[in-house]
Amino acid sequence: MALIQPDAPPALREELAHQSPEAISAMFGRVAPRYDLLNHVLCGGSDLYWRWSLMRAVRAQRPARVLDLATGSGDVLLTLQRHQIYTEFAAGVDFCLPMLQQAHTKKAPNLLVGDALRLPFADGSYDAVTIAFGLRNLADRLAGLREMRRILRPGGRAYILEFSHPLAWFAPLYFWYLRVVMPKYARLFTPEKGAYEYLGESIRAFPRQPELAAMLRTAGFREVRWSNLTLGIVALHVAEV
Ligand SMILES: C[S@@+](CC[C@H](N)C(=O)[O-])C[C@H]1O[C@@H](n2cnc3c(N)ncnc32)[C@H](O)[C@@H]1O
Repeated sequence: MALIQPDAPPALREELAHQSPEAISAMFGRVAPRYDLLNHVLCGGSDLYWRWSLMRAVRAQRPARVLDLATGSGDVLLTLQRHQIYTEFAAGVDFCLPMLQQAHTKKAPNLLVGDALRLPFADGSYDAVTIAFGLRNLADRLAGLREMRRILRPGGRAYILEFSHPLAWFAPLYFWYLRVVMPKYARLFTPEKGAYEYLGESIRAFPRQPELAAMLRTAGFREVRWSNLTLGIVALHVAEV
């Protein structure tokens, strides 16, 4: 794990925050047993509200088939299942087996080991694709968005829940928390120090809300909109094919 100066140039931050797929998968493999606990602790349980907001947005569509990308420990799939959001089935894809094992233990449905950049599904085979806190980790985000678009039917929707850039007045405090407090706090629960430094860096380097919307349009989506959750710490982008 590289140590990055707070004033490092954006291009360097982006490069360091954006690690190889193998390194990302290995890192999630190491945190998998404590991933859920850390999630809840580090954001004070807000992640439950963020996934609930995602579920509500998908519910408005009433999809038949849903694919959850970078499904990890399965919380999105389980939330969709619990609220009976889909009429046919939901499946989850992740390239990190230890994360999927956590999802399996929690009885998440239809789990597949696979790469979000090369999905084993036919064009137009899903009504909805969700990805929560996963797009940031993809080695090629635009390719990931194009792949989502490919497997969605005409009129289908992509739902992207991701850490974003908070309101200007709140941003300095928030980024200080990510850089200084959170890695120390995380160390109380896991020896995996690097993962939570990576988290802060990758959030800082992630495109702002309008930039992600522009990327979605470049990937071929239309009707792109987003809503901020918790002062913009998280944003939910919804886009249509
Ligand atoms: C921060 S976790 C998010 C897990 C879950 N969606 C959630 O809401 O908690 C990110 C997940 O993305 C997965 N991931 C990253 N790049 C991927 C890729 N190219 N294909 C599949 N999974 C990927 C990681 O293995 C990890 O499980």
